[in-house]
Amino acid sequence: MKSYQAVVLLNRQVSKRYWHMIIDTTKLNSPVDPGQFFHIRCSDNQSPFLRRPLSVYKVNDNTIEFLYLVKGLGTKEMSFIEENETIDIMGPLGEGFHLESTARTILLVARGVGVATLAALAQAAYFQGTHCVVILSARTNEDLLAADFLKGFGADVYSVTEEEGTSAVENVKGLIVNEIFEKFKIDNIYTCGSKRLSRLAQEVAETYDIPGEIALEEHMGCAMGACFACVSDIKEEGIVKSVRVCIEGPVFPLRKVLL
Ligand SMILES: Cc1cc2nc3c(=O)[nH]c(=O)nc-3n(C[C@H](O)[C@H](O)[C@H](O)COP(=O)(O)OP(=O)(O)OC[C@H]3O[C@@H](n4cnc5c(N)ncnc54)[C@H](O)[C@@H]3O)c2cc1C
Ligand code: FES
Repeated sequence: MKSYQAVVLLNRQVSKRYWHMIIDTTKLNSPVDPGQFFHIRCSDNQSPFLRRPLSVYKVNDNTIEFLYLVKGLGTKEMSFIEENETIDIMGPLGEGFHLESTARTILLVARGVGVATLAALAQAAYFQGTHCVVILSARTNEDLLAADFLKGFGADVYSVTEEEGTSAVENVKGLIVNEIFEKFKIDNIYTCGSKRLSRLAQEVAETYDIPGEIALEEHMGCAMGACFACVSDIKEEGIVKSVRVCIEGPVFPLRKVLL
């Protein structure tokens, strides 16, 4: 398991609640897949003692980027890290998304900061010539900050927000079934960030027989499979089974997860 000090090249607030961090990864001799995550020591202080998991938002030749929501103590501490300071990161960890080389168009359904996890997939899809259609759901228009990033990778982005009264699950279902499916033939569905939207993605994937994947989020302790803090249930051949999100996931087949 790799843990090392990476130089922080940028750590900037990009909206009221979100921060964007870029770190130097020249010392990292390992490929990073979309959906994989890093376990990050948020500060040099004793508290918070545990690291926090963040998935990769963008992967570049010698840098990786994170988009994070300042939620509690750990991410608050992270926001104080200044450029040119170092950060202790462990990773890349976990099972990432599977992107089929034959997929022509994929649908990404992201809620809130779930887009941070799906954005790296949009990047990988772009590089292999797979078109992305993205539904971005957020509280406010200000929280839709990754929309331009995704459009830069050629994605068709549909935004829904509480602010505009468009984010109800029934509305998103209508958008998928009546608009997106009418316009595009979707080969795979990927989702992250909301139980309600993930249930919808699961239902739609099953109804229309489209394979899908979900990136799960659970509290983590070790991120190495030892503490079982991150256990979640999935169903395989009718049998409910406990899995560790840090090792067996965070990405799982959509049809297997119990939401
Ligand atoms: C594999 C993985 C990838 C992730 N990627 C990102 C990312 O790219 N960007 C991002 O902003 N966040 C991401 N998260 C969520 C992020 O890890 C949590 O928001 C963060 O740990 C919160 O830490 P904190 O100390 O700021 O807040 P805490 O004080 O620990 O928690 C604040 C609130 O958030 C809840 N919470 C804490 N951790 C989690 C969690 N893992 N899942 C659900 N609720 C939680 C707590 O119950 C509490 O209500 C990811 C989580 C996982 C498991
Ligand atoms: S976080 Fe310890 S087993 Fe997953």
